[in-house]
Amino acid sequence: MTEKELKTLLADMTLEEKVDQMNQVAAGMFSGDITAMGPMAAKLYPPEVLARTGSVLGGMGAEALKKLQKEQIEKQPHKIPMLFMLDVINGFKTVYPIPLGQGASFDPELSRECAAMAAEEAAVSGVHVTFAPMTDLVRDARWGRVMESTGEDPYLNSLFCAAMVKGFQGDDLREEGQVAACVKHFAGYGGATAGRDYNTVELSEHTFREFYLRSYEAGVKAGAAMVMTSFNTVNGTPATGNRWLMRRILREEMGFDGVLISDWAAIEEMIPHGYCADRKEAAIRAIRAGVDIDMMTGIYSEQLAKLVKEGTIPESLVDEACLRILTLKNKLGLFENPFKDADEAKEKTVIRSEKHRALAKKAAAESFVLLKNEKKILPLKKTSKIAFVGPYVKSRNLFGSWSFIAEAKDVENLEEALKKVETEENMTFSRGSSVLGTAFKLQGFEESEKEDFTEEEEQVMLEEAVKAAKEAEIVVLAVGEDRLQSGEAASRGFLDLPEVQKRLFDAVTAANENVVTVLFSGRPLDLREVSAKSKALLEVWMPGSEGAAAIVEILFGEQAPQGKLPMSFPYCVGQVPVHYNAYATGRPVTPENARERFHSRYIDIPNQPIYSFGYGLSYTDFEISRIALDREEMKASETIHASVTVKNIGDREGTETLQLYLHDRAASVVRPVKELKGFQKVKLQPGEEKKVTFAITEEMLRFLTEDGVWASEPGAFDLYIGGASNTENQAVFKLTE
Ligand code: IFM
Repeated sequence: MTEKELKTLLADMTLEEKVDQMNQVAAGMFSGDITAMGPMAAKLYPPEVLARTGSVLGGMGAEALKKLQKEQIEKQPHKIPMLFMLDVINGFKTVYPIPLGQGASFDPELSRECAAMAAEEAAVSGVHVTFAPMTDLVRDARWGRVMESTGEDPYLNSLFCAAMVKGFQGDDLREEGQVAACVKHFAGYGGATAGRDYNTVELSEHTFREFYLRSYEAGVKAGAAMVMTSFNTVNGTPATGNRWLMRRILREEMGFDGVLISDWAAIEEMIPHGYCADRKEAAIRAIRAGVDIDMMTGIYSEQLAKLVKEGTIPESLVDEACLRILTLKNKLGLFENPFKDADEAKEKTVIRSEKHRALAKKAAAESFVLLKNEKKILPLKKTSKIAFVGPYVKSRNLFGSWSFIAEAKDVENLEEALKKVETEENMTFSRGSSVLGTAFKLQGFEESEKEDFTEEEEQVMLEEAVKAAKEAEIVVLAVGEDRLQSGEAASRGFLDLPEVQKRLFDAVTAANENVVTVLFSGRPLDLREVSAKSKALLEVWMPGSEGAAAIVEILFGEQAPQGKLPMSFPYCVGQVPVHYNAYATGRPVTPENARERFHSRYIDIPNQPIYSFGYGLSYTDFEISRIALDREEMKASETIHASVTVKNIGDREGTETLQLYLHDRAASVVRPVKELKGFQKVKLQPGEEKKVTFAITEEMLRFLTEDGVWASEPGAFDLYIGGASNTENQAVFKLTE
């Protein structure tokens, strides 16, 4: 349809029809599952509203969605197709590592490929929109949703967000295999106070703009078709009713002209927030802020037409929202082909194809971060006698909390993957414990509880594991969080292993001193003890459906780990939120004042995280030369080239990620001690060296100045290039007037 035709269609629609385009219901509502949206929903949806509803959440399957689309179109006065939306976060049925793991790859292009393949699987299954990428900046590991973010750095997050948007959407949404992306959660959801989900967000406008808003903007600039509001307040105002945030920042400043959807029930939640007295006021606030689709509350369908008729809001507000929704349907080509790519035959060939599974394995392997490798205990030798112990030797729950479509039955566990390794039959496998133990009971964890055992069974498993550990030369201990311990509504006050696994860890490390810990988690954990007592420590996140095979390849050295932490691992919970790019204080701790008291420090723990942002080892070692600058001063129109030579000084191939950090020494507002400005991955054979050069331009020196504009200021800058954010490989240059 042309824009003119869309406007003609809009002009022909009744007010109620337009409003119902702005209504989203759960797929279950159509099959009579009136609990799909909560107990109240049934009464809110008279048949005519349901018939006219503009979009559906949670449906999938080509056959079912084609049937539903056909039936609904017939009921619609203007035969308008519905949009089918779903959370396709880290894959569809082929599951990639959780986004935090993808962040660790420092390879946005790989994430673009993963998103493209997830889009292909979702599209043949009838899905039009995915609620991804989530690009909320995260600094607090207590927050469960850190797993869905690519980490604590605005630059890295921006690259990943843009790459994922491009992967999902391609160049043209009409093309086969593309789905619309929805950048979320706008804005600042990751700043929840004390890491408690849905909690208040209080950030200065400066910090909000400088750190939190940047990656959403990158997603918008990459062409994201949709944006989702966040549940939280932003400095006192719920995001979903926040006109400044939505109209001024998102629409005007960022130039977003796509569809803005509320998060699930976020419009209604403005009532318990104490921001709206009732559903009527909630509708007014949300539509005035420019929220186009009401996810799951029925408030728009119930209130908006009345509000227009009584003159409280102008019909133009409904028109602009409805037109944006029709425009998205048109961009997806739904007016010509309401089923888009839904195809039962293709579902069989595209979903979980060899190609997709190979990519999932590659992405998993690239996401793993080797945190420790004492005496090069890794990679393992196939001739060693190895005991594989821990619940993750047996578990198939490798997806992360958002992958409810993928099925555990399709997943190989570590034991199965290991049994394919040709060894001299010198491996043993024991569970050692359940993931969560018998005491852990929380709604939603039913699936995990199936793995639960009685106290007696736990004891037997522990004893078997200790026996196996004693008899082995090396123990590989596969432990970690349950997949539902991170994700939405999974905030934690303690960041250690579940009690039952701590008991296993203690017993096994007491029985054998050569323990290699393979850690599954959706967030940074407190690893003090695990790190101290393990000879090697490999973080594998929630690695996805092909994770086990990737772990085996890394453990036995078919490839070397190359991941770098996208989020700092705190020394302990008392340190969070902890992030590398903190603002400088007036009393910094330096080697010179290390024992003095009145500096910005804890008296009982270090300031530094146990593992810093950007950190990660390989099986080989790299030597990075001092930095060479081609000039030491630059004008705004000039460029400085900073180079290092990186050499593989070990005896294996490996990949190092060279990271460039900058620090403005004195500026009109205080600057972070370091900011990531670039990175390059370099693969080197033993003995091989390469010169790596970064170009420094004035644009990279810009920040939000005291005048509230993005600009650079003349003066001295520290420049660092190294293999982690705590590198001390430093040079200095000047930006002149
Ligand atoms: O997309 C999600 C969002 O991230 C959290 N609330 C529910 C939405 C739809 O499932």
